[in-house]
Amino acid sequence: MAAFGMRAAIRPAQTDLAGVDFLVVATPVWSRKVPPYINEYLALVSNARGKPFSVLVEMRGSGAEKAVAVVRKSLEAKGMRFVSSASTLESEVDAGQFGPAIEEFARTIVEIAAPIA
Ligand SMILES: Cc1cc2nc3c(=O)[nH]c(=O)nc-3n(C[C@H](O)[C@H](O)[C@H](O)COP(=O)(O)O)c2cc1C
Repeated sequence: MAAFGMRAAIRPAQTDLAGVDFLVVATPVWSRKVPPYINEYLALVSNARGKPFSVLVEMRGSGAEKAVAVVRKSLEAKGMRFVSSASTLESEVDAGQFGPAIEEFARTIVEIAAPIA
């Protein structure tokens, strides 16, 4: 299903972004794309025009760029503004070695979501 970009039902989630300032999509990489339940979430996102978003993907070894591109395409089609992306390796996450990459990713978000006056 991931390979074909298909959707699968998800439990109720906050998909109306009317009261949301910044969206971070965090997803595993499946088939160099994203899981069907992520496709479902992305399809349901509403009231998103003009809002910024970032993408964090976790993978075993390859496909991060393509997975980020899937998320970007879907949200940019709704008028959202891409800010940044980052990827982690499952092995590094399991070993607790994801700190620096996530800190850098977080910095790119804070710059937009909570800029220093
Ligand atoms: C159906 C399926 C497809 C996957 N496809 C990829 C892939 O294309 N590239 C990759 O690096 N890892 C792939 N993986 C591995 C996952 O991205 C990796 O295990 C990830 O860390 C899972 O995150 P989670 O534990 O949050 O679900 C796949 C895993 C599954 C279950």
